Amino acid sequence: MEKPKQALRLLIVEDSEDDAEILRLELLHAGFNVISHRVETEAAYLEAVKSEPDVILAAYTLPRFSAPRALRLLQALALDIPFIVVTGSVGEDRAVECMREGATDYLLKDRLARLGPAVSRALTEKELRIEKRRAESEQMRADEERRALGARLMQARKTEAVGLLASGVAHDFNNILTVISGQCHLVLSQAGLDAGGRKRIEEIDRAAERAASLTRQLLAFSRRQVLQLSVLDLNRVLHDMHNMLARVIGEDVLIECDLAPDLGRVKADRGQIDQVVVNLAVNARDAMPRGGKLTLRTRNVEVDESRAQRTDGLRTGRYVTFGVSDRGEGMTKEVMSRIFEPFYTTKELGRGTGLGLSTVYGIVKQSDGFIEVSSVPGEGSTFEVLLPRVNEPLAISPEEDPAPARGEGTILLVEDDGAVRELTREVLEFSGYRVLESAGGREAFGTIEREKGRVDLVITDLVMPGMGGDEFAELLAARYPEIRVLYTSGHVDRPVAVPLMPRYRELIRKPFKSDELLRKVGELVKGTPVERPSEA
Ligand SMILES: Nc1ncnc2c1ncn2[C@@H]1O[C@H](COP(=O)(O)OP(=O)(O)OP(=O)(O)O)[C@@H](O)[C@H]1O
Ligand SMILES: [Mg+2]
Repeated sequence: MEKPKQALRLLIVEDSEDDAEILRLELLHAGFNVISHRVETEAAYLEAVKSEPDVILAAYTLPRFSAPRALRLLQALALDIPFIVVTGSVGEDRAVECMREGATDYLLKDRLARLGPAVSRALTEKELRIEKRRAESEQMRADEERRALGARLMQARKTEAVGLLASGVAHDFNNILTVISGQCHLVLSQAGLDAGGRKRIEEIDRAAERAASLTRQLLAFSRRQVLQLSVLDLNRVLHDMHNMLARVIGEDVLIECDLAPDLGRVKADRGQIDQVVVNLAVNARDAMPRGGKLTLRTRNVEVDESRAQRTDGLRTGRYVTFGVSDRGEGMTKEVMSRIFEPFYTTKELGRGTGLGLSTVYGIVKQSDGFIEVSSVPGEGSTFEVLLPRVNEPLAISPEEDPAPARGEGTILLVEDDGAVRELTREVLEFSGYRVLESAGGREAFGTIEREKGRVDLVITDLVMPGMGGDEFAELLAARYPEIRVLYTSGHVDRPVAVPLMPRYRELIRKPFKSDELLRKVGELVKGTPVERPSEA
């Protein structure tokens, strides 16, 4: 059977129609299915190469054009098309010169039998080149992927290391701050303190408060904060924050709100969401040193396949988003690729620590959310946070009762840090509670067995050496299902969200304020467990 003919789109640069026809016939004869096109001017040539013919055959000299010129134009256009010079025998030297310049081959007009094989070889070589280029670019892509993976791993390790350090420090630091602020409270509740002394103590208390917010930031960043989840309406959150934001951001930046009506609800930690908004807003302000407009935007968003593919790990489904946009200096791609790295900052020394966005990232991830960034240098940036939408109704936040003046009941206090235990006992006893103490879970068990139902509330640290507070409380609950528990501490060893506290259980973050402690203790002891409609 006859082999099907190979199609060949041929461009001939030649002034003689007859000579061109000879070339065409020769190739037909050699088994190609030739479609040829002849040109003799530079303009026609330039037009013809645009359609990328398979092979170019060029006569060395033409009245208004030449093979060397045609070759140079081809190279200038960076087109990879086999280029064969056809010349009379007198032109052999010059044809060789063309080869040196990059022509694929040359042929003498009186030996055209070589034309077919020369074209076949040129086509094969081109295919090999294409194959090689494809392999090279695949290799490059693989190298790039490996490099990016390495960088991500490195980043993850760095974050993990900083996180470990942060939570280690934060644990002790929170205990210290609890003592400082609690002692302030005790001194302030004493009669006979003069005005000057009162002012100093209040100053110490405020300093402790600032230190506490720093540890909160560190813990949030390392995703080791215990979450206090509740169902939130982000419109309300932003509305509530408006005044505070305006104060933080200053007069030069106008805050515009673009809030979606009928916004869905999300489940998140209110304090952490506040922190995300503040960090993003402060960055936006910093990007607009001469003032400008900052827009807060909320939307219901349905993430479809194509959007999910754009962001790492994003799943399809219903989300609520809030965005912070500025019309500031924007970011280059290079800056954008690093903004979530801890300690990455482009701000001058003393102006930024580079923890703002890594904290935001930590919080968003711990809340099962995602963050998308877009920016144009010189035009501004938008940060958009996506949080999964939930169906549960808003938690009705109970009016915060002031801490009861006097308490009544027996409290078992389990805390390994002596100073914190001492302080907490003092605060509770000062309010009238009877307090039993334990330095650990095992010992506490003994106490509670001895007291036989006389314990109204157990206050236990979550993180303790030996039996941790959560394990202790689990065992306790198995035996006394109705027992009320107040967990203290604000961090976990592993970067996980602690499950929502079941009824009769509450959490208070360290460092806590004595007022806050007394209020929560009061609620739990009174026996009206805090209703949480958002939970089963
Ligand atoms: N809205 C923005 N416009 C332009 N650049 C931004 C914006 N937000 C962040 N960046 C860039 O990202 C970097 C990191 O931001 P991040 O909030 O993590 O740290 P920081 O603001 O420099 O310091 P810190 O928040 O700890 O005080 C910034 O230094 C800045 O270069
Ligand atoms: Mg910042």
